[in-house]
Amino acid sequence: MPSCLFQIIFYFYIMTILKVLTYPDVFLERIAEPVKNIDENMLSIIDNMAETMYKFEGVGLAATQVGINKRIIIYDYAQTNSEKKELITLINPEIISTEGSFTSKNEGCLSVPDYRSDVKRAASVKVTATDKNGDKINIEAQDLLSVILQHEIDHLNGILFIKRISPLKRQIYIKKQKKNKKNQ
Ligand code: NI
Repeated sequence: MPSCLFQIIFYFYIMTILKVLTYPDVFLERIAEPVKNIDENMLSIIDNMAETMYKFEGVGLAATQVGINKRIIIYDYAQTNSEKKELITLINPEIISTEGSFTSKNEGCLSVPDYRSDVKRAASVKVTATDKNGDKINIEAQDLLSVILQHEIDHLNGILFIKRISPLKRQIYIKKQKKNKKNQ
């Protein structure tokens, strides 16, 4: 069997649903490290992240959320308005400029279960990143895509969306969350 075919089969079998860390896990506060080499290990991490995101019906996922301290985000923007999957992977994404302000309605996060809130965000962003092939890409985004990019890049900087809401709202969430834990 040619070795590359063997590898493909191997990766197919080790595709895994990863555990999504939730607040208040301190790992979520880490600043993720840049990816230096996009090697096979990195590509299999990305595959597993995608499996995990689709399994839990997330629109986006950052490596930090699955306990991997690397600057990788994935998202499927098409998922929200069509059946067709269109997975985007950004490696070392960076917001290079923002414009305006905008309230993102009912933002949610797989790491902050059972909670949604409006969040103040920039209206548009310019992002640079590297794709899975190592090619540089530039993205200009508004609306939902802009929110996804800001939300996921926040994760890589250790920031959950509940850090961007009012302290009062945050306290309400934290109290509710502690109560839920006690009742479990
Ligand atoms: Ni999130």
